Amino acid sequence: MKAFTKKVYGGPEVLQLEEVAKPVVKDQHILVKVMANSANPADWHILRGKPLFARLSFGLFKPKKPILGADFAGIVEDVGNGVEDYKVGDHVFGEMLGGGAFAEFASVPVKVCAKMPVNVKFANMAGVPIAGLTAYQALIIHGKLTKGESVLINGASGGVGHFAVQIAKIYGAKVTAICSNKNVDFVKSIGADNVIAYDNVNIHEHDGNYDVIIDTHGNLKHADYKRMGKRGVIVGFTTMSHMVAVLFKNTLSKFPLTQFTAEANTQDLEILASLVKDNKIKVHIEKIYPYTQIPDAITHIEKMRTRGKVVVDWNWKEG
Ligand SMILES: NC(=O)c1ccc[n+]([C@@H]2O[C@H](COP(=O)([O-])OP(=O)(O)OC[C@H]3O[C@@H](n4cnc5c(N)ncnc54)[C@H](OP(=O)(O)O)[C@@H]3O)[C@@H](O)[C@H]2O)c1
Repeated sequence: MKAFTKKVYGGPEVLQLEEVAKPVVKDQHILVKVMANSANPADWHILRGKPLFARLSFGLFKPKKPILGADFAGIVEDVGNGVEDYKVGDHVFGEMLGGGAFAEFASVPVKVCAKMPVNVKFANMAGVPIAGLTAYQALIIHGKLTKGESVLINGASGGVGHFAVQIAKIYGAKVTAICSNKNVDFVKSIGADNVIAYDNVNIHEHDGNYDVIIDTHGNLKHADYKRMGKRGVIVGFTTMSHMVAVLFKNTLSKFPLTQFTAEANTQDLEILASLVKDNKIKVHIEKIYPYTQIPDAITHIEKMRTRGKVVVDWNWKEG
């Protein structure tokens, strides 16, 4: 089968499209014929082995796992021992944070998959896993958002942010979104009640008042959380030193601030699938790349200016 592999840490240029052995389905796994992926910042972090402490998990001197890629949507090709809920032909989506999804086939643990809603495109569901799970868990599990509360979402136009705006509205929150000028109309169109363009307003001087602050961009300071919020959730980071400084300051304060890594699980994926099925959340796709251009999709996402999601199509027909 075809797969994008990496033998050393580096930029998108170290990725190679190779013929590798098709995986054999493991126990409690399903073998998925991948139809679409999406690209996430996690892909380039893992590809580059940055921040350096990530190498403790992904390989100290060189990558442990050759195949990159986390988010996928596809068709069940085979089921492993102990799998009861899936059959050959089911349409599924999910997240393999350890890698393996930028390939024609992937053996995936069932606990990080869910069935796709009918009549939804693979490209759309491939855009959901990491960004959708992160938005949902940031707001509902870590942010403990309740109906009628106000939420400030920094980085509201990106993969995580555009799901966060939509999910917060579904849960009955009043949403203030922060993005660049070029994305103001976009975040309004997905439901934001108020929008702050960071090109015009210095967010570190903004004196709004919110129940929950979700920072997907990762440039908010500890003083910003304390000045504007009652609870805070750190999702992204601009630099490790900035995030460590915010968390260190928080050890000296009683402010309820959480930093977390999203967890893939069937239950939360099913919630997201149902929201997509009911048309309550829409996956905005900025660009679809053919699978041969996965390195370009990574370059695109690495700029950190994506509106919605960047998706990869494994069924791309030239011309
Ligand atoms: N904790 C977790 O488990 C977890 C999971 C997923 C992602 N993340 C992290 O969350 C971050 C966002 O991920 P993503 O997938 O949403 O990335 P993304 O799709 O690339 O979106 C990045 C967004 O950041 C916005 N942005 C850029 N500069 C900004 C600024 N100065 N102020 C506010 N927003 C700004 C951009 O909007 P404009 O173009 O309008 O500027 C863009 O929409 C990344 O750091 C990623 O590593 C963490």
